[in-house]
Amino acid sequence: MQQGHVVVAVDNLRTGRRENLQRLEGHRAFRLVDLDVADPMACDRLVAQVHPDTIIHLAALVSVPESIRDPSLNFRLNVIATHVVAEAARRNKTERIVFASSAAVYGDCQRLPLTEREETRPINPYGGAKLASEALLMSYGATFGITVRCLRYFNVYGPRQDPSSPYSGVISIFRKNMQARIAPTIFGDGEQTRDFIAVHDVARANVIAATRPNLPSGISNICSGTATSLNRLAEILRGLTRDAPPPAYAAARLGDIRHSVGAPELAATELGFTATVPLEQGCAELMAPQIGQTSRL
Ligand code: UD1
Repeated sequence: MQQGHVVVAVDNLRTGRRENLQRLEGHRAFRLVDLDVADPMACDRLVAQVHPDTIIHLAALVSVPESIRDPSLNFRLNVIATHVVAEAARRNKTERIVFASSAAVYGDCQRLPLTEREETRPINPYGGAKLASEALLMSYGATFGITVRCLRYFNVYGPRQDPSSPYSGVISIFRKNMQARIAPTIFGDGEQTRDFIAVHDVARANVIAATRPNLPSGISNICSGTATSLNRLAEILRGLTRDAPPPAYAAARLGDIRHSVGAPELAATELGFTATVPLEQGCAELMAPQIGQTSRL
């Protein structure tokens, strides 16, 4: 919007919240439409009406354990919804689709950091659905001339991430627990690693992928390139909270990837994107209550 674009956000508010967009209410270049993108008629009608240059397809079921508990829901929200979006784009001649894919497509690969050329062998239905969506969109790109950019997000965190479900992202859960002086639970020994990236950086990557002129279709890791163990994460957050208890430990999660860290070089070359918020800084902003609500993250 700062660059003069009009943005139409589409959300069925299953996990998203209207309050998160409150500050955009009344903005003349913004509109929120309450709609399920997996509904083909409704999605097609909206795309025909808005006629966007670019669709950024973010709508998804985002949790690995939830995809294991309900694989059919995962299929509907992550594969069928992508197909519906691809069809709406094809029928209405949308020029570009940016897709929120995931590092989960790599599965439990031993060769780290993960480059975009690495084999994809998902180990849970969530990763499988994201990979299927990538393939479907790339095939639409090749067949119908749509530019498709799949962004493989690593572990995204930020101030408005909802901590209320066991399926929420680990940083949002740990933050909530620490602030309530409740011991967070680490699943497994805590030596599993993740590549955490601030939502501010991810948003910037999306803007670049949506607007960069002459961008070819392709796949980009959206990562920081830094691996952090869950034990280290808990230590960072504890260091930022007075009287926070140490973490408790429970059995490792089914379908959990052991190590995940991305290679950021291709995104730097192809998109000109590099993550800028170090984890310690992102966590410090999150744990400072007043700042956390209004920060640039
Ligand atoms: C996350 C994202 C997924 C994204 C993927 C990319 C969420 C909910 N999931 O999956 O959308 O595509 O990264 O890499 O944001 N853990 C605990 N205690 C808790 C919660 C989690 O120890 O209370 C552990 C998990 O076992 C796991 C790690 O923290 O080892 C991260 O879990 P989670 O935040 O759920 O994310 P991923 O499964 O990595």
